Formats: sequence, C-alpha cells, structure tokens
Amino acid sequence: MKKEIVLGFGILLCVLCIVSLLVRGDALAGQAASGTVKDQVARGAYLVNSGGCHDCHTPKLMTPKGPEPDMSRNMMGAAADSKVPPIPPGLLSPTGWGALTNNDMTIWAGPWGVSFAANITPDKTTGLGSWTEAAFIKSMRTGKRKGVLRDILPPMPWQNMAKMTDEDLKAVFAYLLSLKPIQNKVPEPIPPKR
Ligand code: HEC
Repeated sequence: MKKEIVLGFGILLCVLCIVSLLVRGDALAGQAASGTVKDQVARGAYLVNSGGCHDCHTPKLMTPKGPEPDMSRNMMGAAADSKVPPIPPGLLSPTGWGALTNNDMTIWAGPWGVSFAANITPDKTTGLGSWTEAAFIKSMRTGKRKGVLRDILPPMPWQNMAKMTDEDLKAVFAYLLSLKPIQNKVPEPIPPKR
C-alpha cells in the first residue's frame, strides 16, 4: 500500500513537471515570435530610412533649410491632384537633359514619359494594403507591379532593391505595412509623346 502511494505521488510529480515545461515552452515561443516581428519592423525602418525611399515617395514641405519630407503624408506618393508642370519642348533629348522632377520629387519626366511616385502606405485600395509579402518580393525582383502586372517605370530603383536578400525585403515590407494608411490615388503614368 505504502509503495503504491509513493508510486502514485511520483507519477503525479512527473505529469506536473511535463505540464509546466509545456506551458513555459509556449510562453517562450510566444515571446520569441513577437520579438522577431519587432526586430523585422525595426530592420525595415532602418533600410527604408537609409535607403532614400522618402526622396520620391514622401511629398515635401519647404523649410528654411530646404525641402524636407512631410511626415503627415509619409510615403503617400504623388498627390492625387498633382499638376504636371509644362515641359518645354526639346528640353528632354538624347543630347539635352535626361530627366526632370517637380519641386517635391514625386513626379518624374524622362524618355519613359511621366511617372508618379507610388503610394506605398498600407492603404487597401490605393497603396500596398492588398499586396502579399510574396508579391512584394517578386515585384522588387522582376520590376513588375505586384510581380505580374505592368513594368515599374523609372526612376524607381527596383534594380537596386532586387539585390537585397529575401529577409531584408520582408523587413522593408513589414515596416511599410506598419505605417499609417493614407488614401491617395496616385495619377496614372503619361506615355511619352511620339
Ligand atoms: C528616385 C525616386 C524613387 C526612389 C528613391 C524610390 N522609389 Fe519607389 N517608385 C518610384 C516611382 C516613380 C514609382 C512608380 C513607377 C511607376 O508608376 O511605374 C515607384 C514605385 C514603387 C513601388 C511599386 C508600387 C506600385 O504600386 O506599383 C514600390 C513597392 C516602391 N516604389 C518602393 C520603394 C522603396 C521601398 C524605396 C526605398 C528603398 C523606393 N521605392 C525608392 C520612385 C522612387
């Protein structure tokens, strides 16, 4: 009888040990997962803010120190109501100027026509909100919108981004998705005059 009590007690102890290990394991795994997401967004912030994305994708405010990104319009691209300044005929030519930009660097003109910096906030209808991570990576590797639609026009430096690792591209995407969504339907590109 005494033996059975000791055995029963032993089994109970083992079960308790296993349960506590499982619970603790789960808690640790949860901690690691949220740590990873936070690290990924921080890495993305570092890559985007050192990678010059604001130069074209964020409209500017003129300050006494010159144009600075207007963070209230962070990454919203060229404004829906952007006016394309007139381009003097003959200014863009193989022997003349190669490209022009407007005063906040969200509109660009060159041999490809006129392109407008895209809305890369997480807005679902006008930004990257409907993109998947896989589509973003494919897009930056192939130079096609969402990886399958039309070619992305200059001066978007996707050729440089194509050289980033999958891990870094995932971090850039995670960071962009963490920004404030801004609804702004960027104008369609204008093809070159023939
Ligand atoms: C020199 C200007 C310039 C810089 C710098 C730039 N972009 Fe772009 N980007 C553009 C333009 C212009 C477009 C739109 C081209 C078009 O309409 O085909 C674009 C398009 C995109 C697109 C495609 C979006 C869509 O809806 O098709 C993504 C994603 C993007 N840029 C991300 C970035 C990121 C991230 C960075 C920084 C690492 C960056 N860009 C830096 C000019 C730039």
